[in-house]
Amino acid sequence: MGMDDGVAAALIAFLTPHINKHSGNIMMVVGSSECGKSTLMGNVLLPVFSRSNGFITTFMSPNYDSLPLQELIMKHAKGLKHSDRAKYREVETPTGTIQVPDFKMEYLYKTDEWMFLKRGFDDVYCRLIYHMRLMLNKTHGESDKVRDFRFCLALDDEIDIRGNLIREVCLTWRNKNISWIQLVQDITNLDCAVRNSAPLFFFGYSNFPHRREQIVRNYLSPYLVGKDVKAKMDRFLQLTENKCFIFMNHRLRKAFHINTQTGEVTELRELTTQADHEGQSSSEAPEPLPSQGQEVIHKKGDKVGDSRNSRVGETVHQQRGNR
Ligand SMILES: Nc1ncnc2c1ncn2[C@@H]1O[C@H](COP(=O)(O)OP(=O)(O)O)[C@@H](O)[C@H]1O
Ligand SMILES: [Mg+2]
Repeated sequence: MGMDDGVAAALIAFLTPHINKHSGNIMMVVGSSECGKSTLMGNVLLPVFSRSNGFITTFMSPNYDSLPLQELIMKHAKGLKHSDRAKYREVETPTGTIQVPDFKMEYLYKTDEWMFLKRGFDDVYCRLIYHMRLMLNKTHGESDKVRDFRFCLALDDEIDIRGNLIREVCLTWRNKNISWIQLVQDITNLDCAVRNSAPLFFFGYSNFPHRREQIVRNYLSPYLVGKDVKAKMDRFLQLTENKCFIFMNHRLRKAFHINTQTGEVTELRELTTQADHEGQSSSEAPEPLPSQGQEVIHKKGDKVGDSRNSRVGETVHQQRGNR
């Protein structure tokens, strides 16, 4: 089980235009364990940050034994006989025997699209990439050739902000065209500078009310229906059920509901804007629920949507096949 291939393709198509190829992209995937972060990474984020899409991506995972992601990686591994892919071995655990993908080091570097470090966060490797960038700049200047080296470092879970590395990445490295994808369970693990410089967020299901509250208060409040924070938190919970996510692009000031079961993407409209526009309070004009009404974003003749579009002045990829 995992994400359907068609769903993954739809989400890849949605996400790709949000990625900036001329500077580094900082992407945070936030949510409790089992909310679908690794699956999203393997099926959607890695394919977007792939070699065929112009990125040189290294994926690092500390808990590589137990990841559905490893299966996905094996599925994409090139140059392997089918029989060599995603073999399993049995591992004894306190709760019984489980099957885990059997990884061999020599397979890890064989995909055309990505590189893998199986030992998880490797600070030295990250710095190596950064210095390679600096050296390229020093040798070749800011020529187009150099700009073609788009590095991406992707780290699964267990954020360890050793030596402030992630801070440096967010504040400095991204100007050197180094992207960073980080999966994290709790956003308080990230310091303010990092949080505020991460323009792309995926928010998934969170078990803990205080974490939900923090996410709603700090980020999603303008995009969620509800008369108060408590109601918005409930809405957030509802939208992130079944491994679904809310994607937020800080720069565009837009948020979308990402249905990872159907591939449907729905913009969550900014309520304050709507209220201003129509001269109503938001409680008089309740938002339709995207997950229930199958409401499609930017409907024709939708004044609110139109005005938002022209205000933002950027075209965002719309959900396919539903219009
Ligand atoms: N979109 C999806 N559709 C179906 N199953 C999913 C989906 N996303 C995740 N899963 C399943 O949910 C479980 C947890 O997913 P995982 O990606 O490991 O979560 P996390 O990395 O947040 O702990 C896995 O068994 C995975 O196969
Ligand atoms: Mg995971």
